[in-house]
Amino acid sequence: MQKWRATRRLLLNSYSSKSLFHHPRSNPISDHSTTISRSSSGFESWTSRIHYRHFATAMIQRNPAFSTLNSDDINYFKGILGEKNVIEDEDALLFANTDWMRKYKGSSKLLLQPRTTQEVSEVLKYCNSRRLAVVPQGGNTGLVGGSVPVFDEVIINVGSMKQVISFDKVSGVLVCEAGCILENLVSFLDNQGFIMPLDLGAKGSCQIGGNVSTNAGGLRLVRYGSLHGTVLGIEAVLANGDVLDMLGTLRKDNTGYDLKHLFIGSEGSLGIVTKVSILTPPKLSSVNVAFLACKDYSSCQKLLFEARRRLGEILSAFEFLDNESLNLALNHLEGVRNPLPPSMHNFYVLIETTGSDESYDKEKLEAFLLRSMEGGLISDGVIAQDINQASSFWNIREGVPEALMKAGAVYKYDLSLPVEKMYNLVEEMRTKLGNSAKVIGYGHLGDGNLHLNISTPQYDDAILAQIEPFVYEWTSKQRGSISAEHGLGLMKANKIFYSKSHETVQLMASIKKLMDPNGILNPYKVLPHSIISYS
Ligand code: FAD
Ligand code: MLT
Ligand code: ZN
Repeated sequence: MQKWRATRRLLLNSYSSKSLFHHPRSNPISDHSTTISRSSSGFESWTSRIHYRHFATAMIQRNPAFSTLNSDDINYFKGILGEKNVIEDEDALLFANTDWMRKYKGSSKLLLQPRTTQEVSEVLKYCNSRRLAVVPQGGNTGLVGGSVPVFDEVIINVGSMKQVISFDKVSGVLVCEAGCILENLVSFLDNQGFIMPLDLGAKGSCQIGGNVSTNAGGLRLVRYGSLHGTVLGIEAVLANGDVLDMLGTLRKDNTGYDLKHLFIGSEGSLGIVTKVSILTPPKLSSVNVAFLACKDYSSCQKLLFEARRRLGEILSAFEFLDNESLNLALNHLEGVRNPLPPSMHNFYVLIETTGSDESYDKEKLEAFLLRSMEGGLISDGVIAQDINQASSFWNIREGVPEALMKAGAVYKYDLSLPVEKMYNLVEEMRTKLGNSAKVIGYGHLGDGNLHLNISTPQYDDAILAQIEPFVYEWTSKQRGSISAEHGLGLMKANKIFYSKSHETVQLMASIKKLMDPNGILNPYKVLPHSIISYS
């Protein structure tokens, strides 16, 4: 049976062996003389303690226009793909039907694993002619119920399409198949002296096709921008089987509408991405990671302001977590230790710098940290002295989603908000929920992206009613986005109007109708059910 794979951050660059930052009162660096790494059992070990909650079918009716799979269909697929790529095995289907959060569960009877674009094309052409609904699935690490069937949709996973097609060392352009696992691309590029422009905690399982289809943000967006900037080309297969070859490798190409952007972030609702070309930055030799404590949220904001100015081009990550987040990581993840013992602080910031001149970068970071300490923006801090320490800091930040899952039920919100207002929402939510729930705030502060998570022992509709629509209304009032990076999936398909105008959504629906007239691609997701008719 397939499992999600835990990942350890691959740190690719060299680390200095001596401390860069001396705390005036203590030397917390000495607490990190031992190697700390995340358990390799990772996601696999805690599945039995997960609280299941299946939201899907209670809200929606299966579209009666869709056909039901029969034995002729299965034989047809076997003819195209071969027996072993047509999966009916119960265990494999259980995994493919269930999302990472165990909140959404479909009842698909079939998982298809095409090996070429031609096979994807033939499969989709057939599904379209038979009106068989399909769900494109990558690593199934999505957090909005987009990657699993709602009912009996056929699951198509391009995980067998995992070849690197070409890599150009001069331009840094990588061309690969959509089923490549992100972490494998990271390793491939490392050998070439390059890195991927995106990085996220799910890197050991997610596929580049899934990343592109969700327009995944992650931990490096603050430096390298979104996939709308770094993806140079896409090959995709439309619902009717037509193959769109837009697999360009050019940085500049103003010949008409740039249609590849329709596939970046459309969550499998417009086509199946089969190949990707992406601009990769060179691997730089000097990386530093600092784990810092701030007394209040205002200091975190000021620190970001200062980091942008004083670290400038070497800033490669600016992540934050509140003390509830750190507590969760300490209580639920194996091998995680508080980097700044003995006290707990209100907020923590993880800063990473990446540059090409070790002494210049160190000097810059040191000066910035000393200044921030003297100015009272930082109340404590530690800089990783080696790759293991850096890893242990990142494991805390990247481990928060997993810790939340281990703690019980999670109500997860992924919001873009003005940085100065962002944490007010966490505090208001705490006031609203009192002792009935833990309210946790962390995320990509450098990108204005808050991950608001509400953790309770088990799911409770009364709690949900206190959270929604409050969270969406609050976000909308700030002209924020109700999906910063995770997408809409099934969870937020009907919430799109909080962030997009009626006219905009209407145009989206027209595009969907044009590209997928039978609506077979990832039905019930992304667009509101009021606009897309399911009968
Ligand atoms: P899946 O989950 O399988 O699918 C996601 C969506 O893309 C679905 O709608 C699916 O239909 C569609 N899709 C998948 N493959 C294709 C394809 N080839 N063609 C067309 N459509 C396709 N997200 C972030 O943005 N930033 C983060 O920092 C981040 N961190 C995470 C950390 C953890 C621990 C976890 C579990 C998730 C995290 N995510 C994050 C969410 C998730 O990992 C991303 O959305 C990721 O890009 C999904 O990739 P996947 O291959 O798993 O896609
Ligand atoms: C993260 O930044 O850790 C991911 O987006 C996952 C999450 O929000 O929980
Ligand atoms: Zn995130």
